[in-house]
Amino acid sequence: MTRPFAPAAERNRQPILEVLRTYLSQAATVLEIASGTGQHVNYFAGELAECHWIPSEKDAETLATLGRGLAGLKRPNVAAPLIIDVIGTWPDLEVDAVIVANLLHISPPETVQALCQGAAGVCRSGGILHVYGPFMREGKHTSEGNVAFDASLRGQDSTWGIRDAEQVIKAAADSGFACLEQIAMPANNLSLVFVRQ
Ligand SMILES: C[S@@+](CC[C@H](N)C(=O)[O-])C[C@H]1O[C@@H](n2cnc3c(N)ncnc32)[C@H](O)[C@@H]1O
Repeated sequence: MTRPFAPAAERNRQPILEVLRTYLSQAATVLEIASGTGQHVNYFAGELAECHWIPSEKDAETLATLGRGLAGLKRPNVAAPLIIDVIGTWPDLEVDAVIVANLLHISPPETVQALCQGAAGVCRSGGILHVYGPFMREGKHTSEGNVAFDASLRGQDSTWGIRDAEQVIKAAADSGFACLEQIAMPANNLSLVFVRQ
């Protein structure tokens, strides 16, 4: 069985880990939304071994891919993956942090608000929401590479596209998350860190 592999996840896992290290408390329970191949959760669970990790994907088909990615890894601090469609009903959970990478440009615009509302429903007061990916700033792309990437996304699916960071910050605030930090990341990406109030 071939383990699914995303080269980008291999490149960005270390910079994302450095942000998470700063914000995750010891023994935090962390829900990952849109886990994809499982490469991130596997790496983070190895490096932050005192935390408890819950991967998730949007439906049975993508959960099967994630299951193949996690198969045989036997990390005691990684729970069985959950089905969570951001736009659907979220499970009844309480976690210390919700993390998500590279979702908002590969989903319709309403995913921004649904993510913030859903995260607010599961994240304890004082907990963290970390959102990573490419974003525009105040309606403008931050690089030529992102202009081309945005055009190619919209060509694949007219509902996809790079979102505006300010739109995410506003949706998060409307759901009770204050923005703690906006961190420029390699390859014209951004980490947005929020705390649940
Ligand atoms: C580009 S991949 C990113 C995977 C991983 N987070 C990473 O950074 O490598 C986007 C992921 O978002 C998931 N996704 C798309 N729409 C979703 C939704 N409504 N709810 C949850 N996940 C979704 C896809 O199934 C896919 O695995």
